[in-house]
Amino acid sequence: MTQSNIPNRCSSAAGSGIKPLRYANGVLQMLDQRLLPTEETWLEYRTYQEVAEAIRSMVVRGAPAIGCAAAFGVWFGARDIETESMDEFMAQLDSICDHLGATRPTAVNLFWALDRMRNFARCHTDRPVFQIKIALEYEALAIAEEDDRLNKSLGRHGQELIADGNRVLTHCNAGALATGGYGTALGVIRAAVAAGKQVAVIADETRPFLQGSRLTAWELQRDNIPVTLICDNMAGYLMSKGEIDCCIVGADRIAANGDVANKIGTYTVAVLAKEHGIPFYVAAPTSTIDLSLSDGSLIPIEERDQREVTHQGEKQLAPAGIMVRNPAFDVTPARLVTAIITENGIAEGNYLVNLSALVGGGR
Ligand code: MRU
Repeated sequence: MTQSNIPNRCSSAAGSGIKPLRYANGVLQMLDQRLLPTEETWLEYRTYQEVAEAIRSMVVRGAPAIGCAAAFGVWFGARDIETESMDEFMAQLDSICDHLGATRPTAVNLFWALDRMRNFARCHTDRPVFQIKIALEYEALAIAEEDDRLNKSLGRHGQELIADGNRVLTHCNAGALATGGYGTALGVIRAAVAAGKQVAVIADETRPFLQGSRLTAWELQRDNIPVTLICDNMAGYLMSKGEIDCCIVGADRIAANGDVANKIGTYTVAVLAKEHGIPFYVAAPTSTIDLSLSDGSLIPIEERDQREVTHQGEKQLAPAGIMVRNPAFDVTPARLVTAIITENGIAEGNYLVNLSALVGGGR
């Protein structure tokens, strides 16, 4: 992995060219999201092991963006396999996918992208190995480009739910930085702005990794979309004062019954929204819907390093040796979710029926 400081400044209202990944000439560049908003540093990746480490260490994060990065990881791994035997090639490809899949457990888009790359190879085993390698590069590019396109479609559906003048609370970062481009929750906001609506965003800072203050605030400010930053524990007060009209968040995995795993703190926002009679929307591509899980209790929840809670950079915020929990995600029960917005339309009510219809419509 090497470092380059290529500028990525292209700010425009409601449709910025912000992307977390750039690919050219066999090299993947990732904007190091750990350093935002104060440093824009692009890192270069050429091997699947490097890509796996970037996902694990959160250089790239956000469910769809993790999937896109992993797809390039599979291509790098395939490129370096030295065999002409199809059986041997497929066996090594499986272990590359397993390595990439062991990085983060909650976002299903990671496993969706790995399965898509692996199945693509499986479907073409009548071809010579070198041809499959070439095709896998195009498949990785297709996954990233499709995600950007799907988010724009998701945004067009979702913006119908936003009224002119709405003040919208979001949690974590479900924006361009978290996807192949444009964003899911922030894609809905961008589409509403593009449709001529005045929208003001309230961004939860999102302890402990601060995706809200570091990333959501950064990308909305670049797009000139009004954004006000709050600490996570201020949301209830603003709701009680009538200062929030609706909430929109992304998702890392949605079970068949509509239960939603998303960044820790999402559940709290959903409970508060219910108490105050405020709509709570989830925006996610159908690749985030996991119909193999009947409900959210089956979604694996990642627990991250204690240091994310006890330290801010090098600064210690808690006594040494304190006991810490750091679950990175929580599950919001479907009953608290007003609607789920996808690229194929909006599901409401009976998610068991309506979500599978949307997934079926998209594949
Ligand atoms: O730990 P992260 O930053 O990868 O978590 C990201 C989130 O929880 C996002 O809300 C989710 O992935 C949706 S991104 C479109």
